[in-house]
Amino acid sequence: MTVHKRQRLDKMLAHIGFGTRKEIKKLIKEGRVTVNHEVAGDPGMHVTPGADRVEVNGELVIYREHIYLLMNKPEGVISATEDRYQETVIDLLEPEHRVFDPFPVGRLDKDTEGLLILTSDGKLAHQLLSPKKHVPKVYEATVAGRVTEEDAEHFRQGVKLDDGYVTMPAELEILESGPVSRIRLTVYEGKFHQVKRMFEAVGKKVTFLKRVAMGPLVLDPDLEPGEYRELSEEEVNALKNASSG
Ligand code: URA
Repeated sequence: MTVHKRQRLDKMLAHIGFGTRKEIKKLIKEGRVTVNHEVAGDPGMHVTPGADRVEVNGELVIYREHIYLLMNKPEGVISATEDRYQETVIDLLEPEHRVFDPFPVGRLDKDTEGLLILTSDGKLAHQLLSPKKHVPKVYEATVAGRVTEEDAEHFRQGVKLDDGYVTMPAELEILESGPVSRIRLTVYEGKFHQVKRMFEAVGKKVTFLKRVAMGPLVLDPDLEPGEYRELSEEEVNALKNASSG
């Protein structure tokens, strides 16, 4: 188990969602919290999560500093932490996860679906979004118009967006070409509306967009839109490795 920073017992329990400091104080006063098998009397006592054994109502407390979630973002929901009028991805979370104050790592448009990572780990988010790290993002899209090998070649070379920016080389796989086409596109950067604007640059319109992978993470086929799960320790480590250095 990871050993974490030494901290106040009440603060530690509040961080992982056992209630407000006041509620936790009550739990402690009632003798329902033990530290290394001894009843804790003082909410202000210090513990080292991962080294000290803390139990609440006889159950071992598993501490974690951050939370890491993989969501299948549904369309119609915005990638923000709060909004006065529109539903956000944070609104879709259970209180036990919301208590960690996670935020989305980058944005998917309101009408885009698919893989979205949410975390409270600012350092990891920053690394994943850093343009220097070139973390691949894979999208599947439906495009109005016939997508051709010529488009793929343009994307390989880089296309000029409406603001003059020339995109980094991207890999376009044509899954179905016709009046309506289906494609898979891998990009190594994350400009605003990137995929839609890349297709606009070749005169086509994206009518459906879904992100299916980011770095080492692939969208879980059994996550319905709006559902999410926690990442495993291996997945968190893989993300950290993919974006470090
Ligand atoms: N590119 C877009 O155009 N939209 C997204 O949501 C993500 C990538």
